[in-house]
Amino acid sequence: MDVTEPPLGLLAELTHRCPLHCPYCSNPLELLARDAELGTVDWLSILTQARDLGVLQVHMSGGEPLARPDLPRLVEHATGLGCYVNLVTSGLGLTDARLADLARRGIAHVQLSVQGADAERADRLAGAKAFHHKVRAAALVKAHDLPLSVNAVLHRRNHDQLAGIIALAEEMGADRLELANTQYYGWALRNRDALMPTPDQLAAAEPIVRAAAERLRGRMEIIYVVADYYEPYPKPCMYGWGARQLTVAPNGDVLPCPAATAITTLDLDNVTERPLAEIWYDSSSFNAYRGEDWMREPCRTCDRRGLDHGGCRCQAFLLTGDAAATDPVCSRSPDRGAVDLVLAAPRTEPALVMRHPEVTR
Ligand code: SF4
Ligand code: FES
Repeated sequence: MDVTEPPLGLLAELTHRCPLHCPYCSNPLELLARDAELGTVDWLSILTQARDLGVLQVHMSGGEPLARPDLPRLVEHATGLGCYVNLVTSGLGLTDARLADLARRGIAHVQLSVQGADAERADRLAGAKAFHHKVRAAALVKAHDLPLSVNAVLHRRNHDQLAGIIALAEEMGADRLELANTQYYGWALRNRDALMPTPDQLAAAEPIVRAAAERLRGRMEIIYVVADYYEPYPKPCMYGWGARQLTVAPNGDVLPCPAATAITTLDLDNVTERPLAEIWYDSSSFNAYRGEDWMREPCRTCDRRGLDHGGCRCQAFLLTGDAAATDPVCSRSPDRGAVDLVLAAPRTEPALVMRHPEVTR
């Protein structure tokens, strides 16, 4: 029998509004409008409920969380409850005064996204003049003596800048650099043909990352997230469904993983209608793929099922229409052909569909 543990982390998606238009965004194609967003009182209650449930880490995210004027109040509330609060930001809108205020209210960490190694490429990929704001935002974070993580999503249109992105993170004084090959959900899936890296790019990346990790050991930690379509086995997505973290979407829907709105067969609960603890422990959505009882062959008897939990439920649904299927990335999956077809497709250079509320297909 599975005993469900309390969650460790809450991803608080405060808004889908964002000044950037990154084509690899994992937000859903149907972005929620401002008038669908929860208010301050709802978020204060969510944070209290999350802490009562056992949550220790709160990631204030979006969209761009700085788009919410009540962010300082939410940060103060979460830190007052004893939570470690991480701000996940594009850096746009982060002024010295705003960061000083957030620091005073106890923010513990800032995670800053970068799209490329120079202004020309980065701004093109962000769909906005963002690069110089990010450089300035990083300097502010360091000036306030806060830990800084830089996050760069890698894909065919920026893999060639990998060394430059590492150098940029170094110049920014990042304590940690996450180099994450694109995972294909939301807008990234919409743009998959344009974003999928080539085998040559991935082969070139490995020695660059290895050498940088060695050179920067003790100064800047480097995390490299592989391109899972090219791997023989799937990632242990979310360390298991409903196992460690929950996500609250801007409208209060509570998600077992950030991309779970993609699984249209899931019956999602909303935190304005049901207590968070009840959703975590008792909801059909969180219990749908917990543990191993839901698994079918080949996962059910596979010797790797304790390592990867059968892979990613969202990817299974998006590629096969069945969220209980083995992740098609797995070489043991009967659906692996769907992934191989994507990899074998001739590389064309389709235009990127930039993330925008008015583009939904
Ligand atoms: Fe993982 Fe299932 Fe593949 Fe086994 S068959 S490696 S459990 S995804
Ligand atoms: Fe949803 Fe993997 S992204 S389970």
